[in-house]
Amino acid sequence: MKRIFSGVQPTGTVTLGNYIGAFRQFIDLQNEYDCIFCVVDQHAITVQQDPKELRDNIRSLAALYLAVGLDPDKVTLFIQSEVPAHAQAGWIMQCISSIGELERMTQFKDKSAGKEAVSASLLTYPPLMAADILLYKTDIVPVGDDQKQHIELTRDLAERFNKRYKKVLKLPEIQLPKHGARIKSLQEPTRKMSKSDENQKATMRLLDTPKQIEKKIKSAVTDSEGKVYYDVENKPGVSNLLAIEASLSGTSIDQVVEKYQDSQYGEFKAGVAKVVIDHLAPIQERYHALIESTELDEILDKGAEKANRIAIATLREMENAMGLGRMRV
Ligand code: TYM
Repeated sequence: MKRIFSGVQPTGTVTLGNYIGAFRQFIDLQNEYDCIFCVVDQHAITVQQDPKELRDNIRSLAALYLAVGLDPDKVTLFIQSEVPAHAQAGWIMQCISSIGELERMTQFKDKSAGKEAVSASLLTYPPLMAADILLYKTDIVPVGDDQKQHIELTRDLAERFNKRYKKVLKLPEIQLPKHGARIKSLQEPTRKMSKSDENQKATMRLLDTPKQIEKKIKSAVTDSEGKVYYDVENKPGVSNLLAIEASLSGTSIDQVVEKYQDSQYGEFKAGVAKVVIDHLAPIQERYHALIESTELDEILDKGAEKANRIAIATLREMENAMGLGRMRV
């Protein structure tokens, strides 16, 4: 059975972008593949985190993974820092990366631009992500469009390792969603919707209340033309809302455009808000039940156990190929 691996950072509440770009794909894949999903908390500490907030965010993200519809009997869910092989394999990946290729990563450029103090880990984040994926001999990585460059680097590093030492690692394929590979900010619809956006109105979160959702969509930036149709270049705001509704309702953009072809923006926005609210209501209900339960800890314990087993076996193979430590089988 082919293996899927993906991860989400526990930094702030998951956005509608994360949901559409990543989670929705996970749900569809769980029935056909061996799926492993990770709360990548070690990635989160590349920028300073408040310890209590980080703990809460880790638990909240784990609950959301399940609340969106992942079945713990089908998928493996674990927390990255509970599987030490990630950091160990991440170090190996750093050793075969060049500073030049890491400096060329657009996310590094964006996140470090204009900052005086940038942690070394912001630069070495992609080799850790490569380790996450390669430890599980992953076939497919479902992610949003912004992770494309990181997956390409992962393939380059795997190939380099295999050529230099021994063919141990599998080169993964990326899988992007049909619609919504890059959901945009509600306030600046040419930029991606981001968890860390300081403007609260720009980002829709999975746990936003119906009132917040209505307000955010109502104030979403559109244009002055007043006509609903899809044109990413000239109507990024309207096109973003169309992509959101198409993805959540599982229809095509054309069908959504048809639905609103005679609508003013007010009516269009109210319609999209209703689709989002109705879609998120059952997810939020399951989330609130899960976050209180001990079931979540049992699932994470089981997940860490299985992930450790697989990850340690690959790490051993890598270390043996490189001559690290003593030969172990
Ligand atoms: P993160 O936590 O930023 O985002 C999690 C997932 O959500 C997708 N995503 C989006 N998709 C569409 N529109 C958006 N506006 C949007 N914003 C985020 C991301 O593409 C991602 O799929 N580096 C990763 C985490 C990671 C990882 C991994 C992923 C670490 N190790 C191994 C896959 C495999 C990240 O920061 O994602």
